[in-house]
Amino acid sequence: MSASNISPEIKDKLLEHLNEMLSAENAAVDRLDSRIQECLLPEGKEQLQRHQNETRGHQERLRQIITDLGGSPTDSKADLPTLRLPTGMLAKKTLTDMAKSITGGGGGDTNPMPEELELMHTKEDYGIEHVEIIAYRTLIQLCERLGISNAIPLLQQSMQEEQSMAKWIETNIPMTFDKIWPRIEAALTGRSKEQTNPTGEKATTTV
Ligand SMILES: [Fe+2]
Repeated sequence: MSASNISPEIKDKLLEHLNEMLSAENAAVDRLDSRIQECLLPEGKEQLQRHQNETRGHQERLRQIITDLGGSPTDSKADLPTLRLPTGMLAKKTLTDMAKSITGGGGGDTNPMPEELELMHTKEDYGIEHVEIIAYRTLIQLCERLGISNAIPLLQQSMQEEQSMAKWIETNIPMTFDKIWPRIEAALTGRSKEQTNPTGEKATTTV
């Protein structure tokens, strides 16, 4: 690492940007844990597991670069981008006990159905990968400008893995949708039948 001819202030700024990325990767490992747990499709689970292993590699590369520059790698965890739906829109993703029972999702509460959450979290996965791609691209440009040449191949490798993950999500979203949507549709159809039940004593009202 050839950081000897940059000023301490500039080096501190570089370390700040590197630790910002590490903070995002630290949060990404945790998020991937919960995504692996909740993911409804085996193909998705496998890919998320692969990417979690890659993400641990990203953490290691960043820690190495930061340490080589004389900095301290952070343990902090950034807030990752999410689709923060307004309460009313989130409520619309909630189905009734009966509808949930069709999908095996349990019942008796007002949580959104797992299939809806899977689609929403897949969109978030895609957004997060793209934020990571841009963040690595910026770090590479910064290291090029400052002549920190040894860091560049490490950052490029991580960026390429982020690009591969984003590509996987983009390629596989039609498959995910094809498998998930019929379950949502079945639950909605079931609910609709319940609402129009001719005996009509216990119409379902949750929307
Ligand atoms: Fe990633």
